[in-house]
Amino acid sequence: MEKRIFLTATVFSLALLGVIALSVRISGRGLPTCLLDVRPFLEGKVIEQAPKRYEIHMVARMWRFEPSEITVPPGSTADIYLSTADVTHGMAIVGTNVNLMAVPGVVNYSRITFDKPGDYTVVCNEYCGIAHHKMAAVIHVTDKAPPPPPPTKVELGGEELLGKYQCTACHTTDGTTGVGATFKGLANSRRTMVDGSVILADDAYLRESIEKPDARIVKGYEPMMPPIEIPPADLEAILEYLETLH
Ligand code: CUA
Repeated sequence: MEKRIFLTATVFSLALLGVIALSVRISGRGLPTCLLDVRPFLEGKVIEQAPKRYEIHMVARMWRFEPSEITVPPGSTADIYLSTADVTHGMAIVGTNVNLMAVPGVVNYSRITFDKPGDYTVVCNEYCGIAHHKMAAVIHVTDKAPPPPPPTKVELGGEELLGKYQCTACHTTDGTTGVGATFKGLANSRRTMVDGSVILADDAYLRESIEKPDARIVKGYEPMMPPIEIPPADLEAILEYLETLH
């Protein structure tokens, strides 16, 4: 009797394992696995291994996912490797059966095939602190090209730079006199200094007037401008712009 129970149990377990192995084989759906070497996965990124084959390294941290926006074409299969940069998080792709835990020190794995186009929301489903509910990402499954990444550095023109460094708080560009001289017609003009000398407002003079405003004062003005530190590239752009203000 005992023998028979034991045998049944063994056969049953083996059958179960077989069914699991078979379903993995047929559905192509990977079993949730866990990797202990987290090093290759600590940076959020998407690697295209072949057309429609992706490896997604997803990093969860308070309180965002990296990458936070992913675009893949319909029919893509993605191997998702999830790790956390701080505490325990969850990662569920809404509307799919991907539901992983991001546990410190390990990488969790799941495979998914995106058959239907659309935007898949990724949420954190493990309470991880004050902004847990804001932790989300999106996977765009579309044939359209991914939107260009936002420019990391906005190049400001001379005009905007005058505003950025607050020059226009005292100096106008339209010829009217403010606390300081107007920028209009300033470049390469002749200026009379408080000591009566006349100088040419060339590049060197304008540069000096920005960096060491008190070095030479134009007649009729007070030495009240603070020295302003402007990175070389910005200074160059400002000087170029001043030349255009005739
Ligand atoms: Cu991360 Cu909740």
